[in-house]
Amino acid sequence: MTNSLNYESLQVHAGFEQDETNSCTTAIHQSSAYTFKSSKHAVDLFELNEFGNIYTRIGNPTNEVFEKRIAALEGGSGALACSSGQSAQFLALTNILRSGENFICADQIYGGSFNQFKIQFQRLGIECRFFDTNNTNDAISKIDKNTKAIFVETLPNPKISVPDFERYVELAKSFDLPLIVDNTFGAAGYVFKPIEHGANIIVHSTTKWICGHGTTMGGVIIDAGNYNWGNGKYPQFTQASEAYHGFKFWEKFGYDSPYGNIAFIIRARVEGMRDYGCCQSPFNSFLLLQGLETLSLRLDRQISNTQNLAEWLIKQEWVENVNYPGLKTDKYYNLAKKYFKKGAGSVLTFKLKAGRDTADIFIEKLNLIKHITNLGDVKTLIVHPASTTHQQLSKEEQIKCGVEEGLLRLSVGIEHIDDLKQDIQNAINETLPHEISKPNNYQHKQQTLIS
Ligand SMILES: Cc1ncc(COP(=O)(O)O)c(C=O)c1O
Repeated sequence: MTNSLNYESLQVHAGFEQDETNSCTTAIHQSSAYTFKSSKHAVDLFELNEFGNIYTRIGNPTNEVFEKRIAALEGGSGALACSSGQSAQFLALTNILRSGENFICADQIYGGSFNQFKIQFQRLGIECRFFDTNNTNDAISKIDKNTKAIFVETLPNPKISVPDFERYVELAKSFDLPLIVDNTFGAAGYVFKPIEHGANIIVHSTTKWICGHGTTMGGVIIDAGNYNWGNGKYPQFTQASEAYHGFKFWEKFGYDSPYGNIAFIIRARVEGMRDYGCCQSPFNSFLLLQGLETLSLRLDRQISNTQNLAEWLIKQEWVENVNYPGLKTDKYYNLAKKYFKKGAGSVLTFKLKAGRDTADIFIEKLNLIKHITNLGDVKTLIVHPASTTHQQLSKEEQIKCGVEEGLLRLSVGIEHIDDLKQDIQNAINETLPHEISKPNNYQHKQQTLIS
């Protein structure tokens, strides 16, 4: 009944069905395992002849409501809740990649993903080949017969760039490869819905906007149900599975199945999640459901605050540059207009003319804005990516990702815009006069700041 509803209604209702208690809120099913109705029932569940609860590592009724809701919001055929964003992308990629194979990935991505892909995957024999995010020809040059996926991120920071998604969809189609999008910044499909443009698999760190209150770690994989895993490139779907008593995932859950094409997400659950074990706790799913219910309201306010702050910051004498694709002067403005109908998200980066040392002092002088490495919280957060989120990258890799020394990242919250500006102005007023007293500082700023 819910799939014809608008986003704002789906975020409140999708996936929830009232149970015999008449409770109006999703219950927290804090149970590790579930009673089988009969011996046959147990066999049917294990054989995947019937869907139902066996053990919370594989599935849980509270997690299921969250999974159904996020699948509805992103427009997918199914979803799998994971313990973190890192585990969601790990499970999604290992669901299709084996040792000796590779995937290509845009070079502008979250620093933690970069590390997981470049170092940890390499240790497992899976190669990640990075390409220039804004150059599909570079992407093409990295593809060979062992390439199994293309991975890009929505609004990667700190450049806050906008990949041209439709070009990546075309590229993926022309090589018959799945396109995986880390849509964390797309905020559960409210800011951006990659599946509508043809993406095949979505991953999220639900820790961010979906949670929205900085309380809960989580991740999720969403299957668009639009990729043919039976095309011969993925034997894990077409051949008898050694890890699942000879089961053939594509045969049972491909396009011809009564459930539609859910082969990817089922395999991720019953092999990947079962064996790697990075499952979501039901309590966290409950909190994430609470977060989803107000997501659009929070995002509307966060986006308008971010746009307003970006326009204000760029006019300040002490600011060298602002990265925010909602600014008309931004390199990615046209792409942002094309893909993000609600606005360009709620993260911007900016650099003080006075450099890294001043930026460090400035952060410490902020009062309302918190110095925290998280995103999507209702509170405004600031961080210095070069020494935190992207610190593990080499200097060269940092430059490619746009991680400049002294560049600051603001994840904008729902506070009153005037209070945010005042907090920044106060911190600047306290920072720059102090800096100006240092020998190498530029005198011409003094009047502007003190006036
Ligand atoms: C874009 C993006 N993807 C993935 C992750 C990893 O998510 P988590 O911290 O939930 O593991 C993050 C974390 O900051 C992120 O920003």
